Formats: sequence, C-alpha cells, structure tokens
Amino acid sequence: MNCFHDLVIHRRSYRKYTDELLNPEQVRLILEAALMSPAGKRKNPWHFIVVEDKAVLKSLSEAKEAGAAPIADAALAIVVCANPEESDTWVEDCSIASHQILLQCADLGLGAVWIQMRNRYDANGNTANFNVQQLLGIPAEYEVLSVISIGHPNEERKPYDTDKLQWEKVHIGKF
Ligand SMILES: Cc1cc2nc3c(=O)[nH]c(=O)nc-3n(C[C@H](O)[C@H](O)[C@H](O)COP(=O)(O)O)c2cc1C
Repeated sequence: MNCFHDLVIHRRSYRKYTDELLNPEQVRLILEAALMSPAGKRKNPWHFIVVEDKAVLKSLSEAKEAGAAPIADAALAIVVCANPEESDTWVEDCSIASHQILLQCADLGLGAVWIQMRNRYDANGNTANFNVQQLLGIPAEYEVLSVISIGHPNEERKPYDTDKLQWEKVHIGKF
C-alpha cells in the first residue's frame, strides 16, 4: 500500500479466513490504531476486548440472529464497547475506532469485517448487546457497538473501482 488513497481503494470486508493466527506485533499495531482514534471532547469512552479463544469466538458469532457468522472462523475478534453515560458521542467514537481497526488491518494485509451488535437481536428477542455482555463479563452500563472480526484473508475481494463511485451523492453548494 503506497498511500492512504490506495488503502481505502483496497479495504474491503473479509468474512473468510485461514487458520493462521495474528502475531503479537500485528495485534499491537491494531490496538494502537484503536487507541489513537479521535473522540468527542477527547473523552475516549471506548473499551476494546480482544478475544482469541475459539469457543468464545463461536459464541460471539451467535450473539445475534444473522450476520455474525464470520466471527466463528476469525483468528481474533475485537469487541468495541463504551458506557453511554461517559460521552454523548459514544456511538460516533466507537464507530471511528472500529473503522480505525479496519484500516489498520487492511494496511497489514489482514482481512476484517465490522459486525454490528448495537440494535441487533438474537432469534429469541434478546439483544446482541446483552448476549455479548453475558459472555465477556461486560458491566451492564456498557453497550457493545461492534465486534471486528479479523484474520488472514481466505477469499478474493475486488478493490473499489473509482470509475463507479456514487458521485450523485455529492452536492455542491446545496442539496
Ligand atoms: C455499521 C456497519 C455495520 C455492519 N454490520 C455488518 C454485519 O453485521 N455483518 C457483516 O457481515 N458485515 C457488516 N458490515 C460490513 C458491510 O456489509 C460492508 O462494509 C459493506 O457491504 C461494504 O462492503 P466493503 O466493506 O467490502 O466495502 C457492516 C458495516 C458497517 C459500516
């Protein structure tokens, strides 16, 4: 990756991974990227829970009814959560941190995908938030925004085609 533009062109969601684990240096760089995320009023409300245990990853993949399956085969997952009482921008702060993790993974040649947990439910109507809290001992006042599923990619994804961007979404001067 030569420059930031190159990175964003090549960053795609990867949902299939090889069995290879991340090395400690990769994990350090990913967590550093998360911890350097900008946050409203520099309150840094986020917490990051690193999960490598296969059985826990499997349970995390069942925290909501659909869309969390990639976590089961991940080498590692990072749960992003915060206490909403600590900052009224906690959703934005956790979102930026989640994306910062995705970009760092892409830069390292790793595959990753954002798995949404906030406002999601399992088949019994329990919130994904409650399920993840129970699984990882997260205090009740914290809310889980996302789980970032990470591994060495085991699928091909095409980079973005800058000739096919939705320029109609860009408005000059007024909507
Ligand atoms: C807020 C948000 C929630 C997402 N939730 C999920 C999810 O629960 N499961 C999943 O497989 N992908 C999820 N994704 C990944 C999107 O499906 C993906 O980013 C989108 O299809 C664009 O593809 P790309 O990331 O390869 O560019 C989510 C992405 C965002 C930004």
